Amino acid sequence: MKKILIINGPNLNLLGNREKNFYGDTSLERIKSLCAEECKKNEIESEFFQSNHEGEIIEKIHSVQNGFDGIIINPAAYTHTSIALLDALRATSKPKIEVHISNIYAREDYRRKSITSEAVNGIICGFGENGYILAIEAIKKLIYSND
Ligand code: DQA
Repeated sequence: MKKILIINGPNLNLLGNREKNFYGDTSLERIKSLCAEECKKNEIESEFFQSNHEGEIIEKIHSVQNGFDGIIINPAAYTHTSIALLDALRATSKPKIEVHISNIYAREDYRRKSITSEAVNGIICGFGENGYILAIEAIKKLIYSND
């Protein structure tokens, strides 16, 4: 069975309590169960991971090359700052989708640049929790077209 990794970066553990005007009421636990359900429906195995630490996220991305068929990542604020995450993403040849709950292009100037998106196949943003479901649909197509 195909297997994907879904990574969430810093402060996303606070969803539901944090800046609801941008992120709504959804919680990370809810996103986790929505993703698990969608992956199950699509007969894809999935692992869901969140960390507030850049190094931990980088090491998790390293595990993709030999352990997974693709990655969905919401790098959160590291999107806008981390060349280290960009390099880690570039080091895997597997399909990669970047997700943002909010529309980063409709927010502050410093959020309008995604450094990490230079390494991914595509980016989905502004659709709230549904962005993760759209990303699962997109990655499935990429994984199977890679075969
Ligand atoms: C975010 C957008 C980022 O700019 C922000 O730092 C986040 C969440 C999103 O999902 O909309 O933490 O990645």
